[in-house]
Amino acid sequence: MGKKVLPVKLYRHEIRYRSGNLYCENVPLEKIAREVGTPVYVYSKKTILEHYRKLKRALSSLNPLVCFSVKSNSNLAVLKTLARAGSGFDVVSGGELYRALKIGADPKKIVFASVGKTDAEIRTAIQKGIFCLNVESLPELDRIEEIGGALEKTVRVALRLNPEVEALTHHYVQTAKSESKFGITFTEARKIFYHLEAFPHLLLRGVHIHIGSQILESRPFVTAVRRTVSFIEDLRKNGIRIDWLNIGGGLGIVYSNERAQTPEEYARAILPLLRKRKLRIILEPGRFIMGNSGVLLSRVIYVKRQSGKNFLIVDAGMNDLIRPSLYGAYHEILPLKASDGRQKETYDVVGPVCESGDFLAKKRKLPTFFEGESFAVLAAGAYGFVMASNYNSRPRAAEVLVSGNRFEIVRRRETIQDLVRGERIPRWV
Ligand code: LLP
Repeated sequence: MGKKVLPVKLYRHEIRYRSGNLYCENVPLEKIAREVGTPVYVYSKKTILEHYRKLKRALSSLNPLVCFSVKSNSNLAVLKTLARAGSGFDVVSGGELYRALKIGADPKKIVFASVGKTDAEIRTAIQKGIFCLNVESLPELDRIEEIGGALEKTVRVALRLNPEVEALTHHYVQTAKSESKFGITFTEARKIFYHLEAFPHLLLRGVHIHIGSQILESRPFVTAVRRTVSFIEDLRKNGIRIDWLNIGGGLGIVYSNERAQTPEEYARAILPLLRKRKLRIILEPGRFIMGNSGVLLSRVIYVKRQSGKNFLIVDAGMNDLIRPSLYGAYHEILPLKASDGRQKETYDVVGPVCESGDFLAKKRKLPTFFEGESFAVLAAGAYGFVMASNYNSRPRAAEVLVSGNRFEIVRRRETIQDLVRGERIPRWV
């Protein structure tokens, strides 16, 4: 039985053609490409808020704290948009913590995960009074205890458990298999919870799980939550107090024609497991909120035809959007001018970076493109700009936020001078 494929446009209502031009909200993307230049990331404020609210609404009976996963998009304007809507933040480094605090996020709504927190990061997190640190190993727990003691503070922590669930997603973004570096096994965690007296400066009252990313169906979430809740109930029976459960992020989105669970379906699957548990629920979505809230605009530099192949050589490379090269990820490509009546051709859409792996799309059927034409790479709002690099000494792209018929640059394009800032040549060279 074939799965019902929902029309892609249902999910991307703020990126659409109107009288032949591709718009983000009420702004023609061609206008942004022309005025700001390419490559440029463009985000829709309306979509960001709609996705945040959709998720929040679906789970409203639990009144969860949604902590947006800053790693998926850490632009200050994006973070501020979400903070204003009431979102908290999931951070994984001192840098992300700095960003969240810089936009005035409430420290009580910040959670800090990462397998390798440094002493300096732990100290800052404690001093800023964030909600909790999600701890991934026993040595880390010892270190936090030590630092908490030195600062004479009691630190709220959660143990990140590995529920050993295999999520059907790219193996690079699976995180809860038994061989994964993330999290602590239930057996190890049980030992820790039964020896809380060893950690007088820790308030170990939380449990955290995150089983992977771009998960399209609810089954792995259900398995992971069920296992974790029964683990918690077991601890409670033995007199151990658990106040909150962080169920992580990982909700998949539509890139092509896959069928992604809706927030309502996700909620329907996990709510029965979480209701009446007297647990404060935390969520850490990244991609679900930002993925389809953003596009990358780029321009065709050359059309190269060789050995029976057609290449669109474009001004955005793997340094701008690495997902196709790194995961073989599919991102839809749409011309900014509608393509009615144009012939279709099969192209490799490649960047200028000196690597064969530098491509945005391979063997893609697209309307015939011409030199100088710009196009949008869809679903690039999450894990797009944040994974960009300066490889080949390419300045990183600009970022733009759209709201209604307004748009503004929220990160200027890097300059060539930015690239060498901080470098110096010793006299002895
Ligand atoms: N919480 C934790 C502990 C995580 O490690 C992650 C993502 C999230 C939340 C947010 O997951 P999301 O809701 O966005 O799926 N670069 C890859 C994705 C890596 C995800 C890493 N962890 C990609 O481009 O697909």
